[in-house]
Amino acid sequence: MTIPAAFIQELIARTDVVEVVGRHVTLKKGGANFTGLCPFHDEKSPSFSVSPTKQFYHCFGCGASGDAIRFLTEYTGASFVEAVQDLAQQVGLEVPNDDISPDDRARAQAQKQRQATLFEVLEKAGEAYRGLLKKSPRAVEYLKRRGLTGAAAARFGLGYAPEGWRTLAGIFPVYDDPLLAESGLVIVGEEAIEQPEAERKRYDRFRDRIMFPIRNVKGECIGFGGRVLGDEKPKYLNSPETPVFSKGRELYGLFEARAALREHGCALVTEGYMDVVALAQLGFPNAVATLGTACTPDHLQKLFRFTDRIVFSFDGDSAGRRAARKALDAALPLATDTRAVKFLFLPAEHDPDSFIRANGKDAFARHVEEAVPLSRFLIEAAREACDMATAEGRAHMTANARPLWSALPDGALRRQLLVEIAQQVQLPAEELAALWSSQAAAAARPARFGGASSQAHPDTDNNSAPTTGRRWNRGFGDGGREDTALRNGSGATSRRSGRQPPQSRADQAARLLMLLPGAFDQLDHEERMLLAEQPAPHGALFVRMERELQEHGPRPWAALREGLKAEPEVAALAERLMGGAHAETEASGSELQTELRGVLDRMLMEHLKAAETEAIAAAANGDADALRRYSALQTRRQAVATRLLSAQRA
Ligand code: UTP
Ligand code: MN
Repeated sequence: MTIPAAFIQELIARTDVVEVVGRHVTLKKGGANFTGLCPFHDEKSPSFSVSPTKQFYHCFGCGASGDAIRFLTEYTGASFVEAVQDLAQQVGLEVPNDDISPDDRARAQAQKQRQATLFEVLEKAGEAYRGLLKKSPRAVEYLKRRGLTGAAAARFGLGYAPEGWRTLAGIFPVYDDPLLAESGLVIVGEEAIEQPEAERKRYDRFRDRIMFPIRNVKGECIGFGGRVLGDEKPKYLNSPETPVFSKGRELYGLFEARAALREHGCALVTEGYMDVVALAQLGFPNAVATLGTACTPDHLQKLFRFTDRIVFSFDGDSAGRRAARKALDAALPLATDTRAVKFLFLPAEHDPDSFIRANGKDAFARHVEEAVPLSRFLIEAAREACDMATAEGRAHMTANARPLWSALPDGALRRQLLVEIAQQVQLPAEELAALWSSQAAAAARPARFGGASSQAHPDTDNNSAPTTGRRWNRGFGDGGREDTALRNGSGATSRRSGRQPPQSRADQAARLLMLLPGAFDQLDHEERMLLAEQPAPHGALFVRMERELQEHGPRPWAALREGLKAEPEVAALAERLMGGAHAETEASGSELQTELRGVLDRMLMEHLKAAETEAIAAAANGDADALRRYSALQTRRQAVATRLLSAQRA
């Protein structure tokens, strides 16, 4: 969906960032600005400032900054489009969208309406279950026996679905309402498939179970988990996938844990509903749980919006070990240098709930403290079943380690791990890098834009620095011979203009956009989003550039430079990229344009590839919509690949 820049401008002009932020953060007036505790990192004294004149927020502690739209995307996890729609609705504007037909718009509107109705239905059921819990001494007794306090049960809105097939018929006026089936609360019998739906047998999904409402980040009820009171099977029944509930994306307890996550600066990811509820009661309100599924990158991305530190807690048995491996795979691509991911393995017979009750709070806190860092778990996982006393075993570990290491984002952690793995397998780091690099190049050759390209990582040092896959793109025009570039390590563009190569594609995109005054304006929505979502400080630079463009129109570097000074971090990055010889280039405008196109396309490719991987993971977790997403992403990536290829041939 392409939203015209003029509309965004209008929207920003009509909203007040102080009001938008103020809905989520307690702000105090201090001088010209408002200040408060930064919602994006853990702090005790306020370094978060919102400027009503600049309509911008900035945190001097963690560097988070942006306008009202950015705040909403960062804080509530809404997409750019969702945030725009959200704001537009609040100020009574209608989002124009040329891409979609009035039919599609009506459909989207209807879907939103339907979701809102589902939230209502689920909330109403939840309330009813809460009331019914109070009326069931047996259910109350069960929770008491498990050591839960009334306060903990209330915090999580626990309820009880009584025995009987049609309890909800007494709650909702029309039991046949298709909404009850769509929300997952009512099951429509399959036996009479030829009958019209309304005449098939219907019954409540949850009967004689303790009910755990599952809430999204905004606190809306999106589904339930229901536990039997005895030993019957299945122990837990969960809501099915519905238009508002997707197991691969939602974390139980996230809504309730939000404040604690920021306060503790750390999230505990457990496996069970009861773990979350019990942990909160026993002094660990920062716990969440996956819903009987493996941890996905979607889960983690959600969590990382609230905290940089995650400790996974797994049972010490083999199932726990397997779950941990999956969590490792999900965490690797997100393990940037400012984040810490750890793995805690409890004694085999315990989950966090039972462990604390048996050994106490302090013992559990100690375990959390001593959890295995991702770096160590990665090495252990790669070394598993390898006989390190033999060359064969060490070679095997090398092969195991490559996909794990390659999945890490570039940074100090990744570089240190290369050295560590090299030591373990008794190879010099340079040789290990060369080996992996040639393997990646070989894998990339048959399908130019497939497979190994996603492992490409930028590197600064052309002579000896480790790398897999490709180095950063050196521009086209020179035939773009990647394989050659990989071997001789000296880029075409850098030869041409005699400057140091920028460090990453994001660096390069930023530099080119600053060199080419009108270029930002030409970017489409997808590209703007891609840039805005780059990790700090690049994302902030691109957001700032967009804002500058909206306010002043295209401006040459000298003028833009002044505008960027409002944000020190952004300005520093821009100066680094444009400083010294970087700003001078002998390349013509059209050469730079071509170069920019190439860089953006490569960034798009990587982004799409990552999104595909996530879609596949979601599909494997039963997300019905994920395969359709996956195939759309693939089609899109093919189109970008074709454009890249023809640019290279030209
Ligand atoms: P556990 O069997 O470890 O349950 O399953 P638990 O959370 O410790 O529950 P209690 O303490 O016996 O009450 C861990 C999680 O796996 C999912 C649930 O999300 C559960 O919390 N699960 C388990 C199911 O979805 N269905 C099941 O039948 C069992
Ligand atoms: Mn348990």
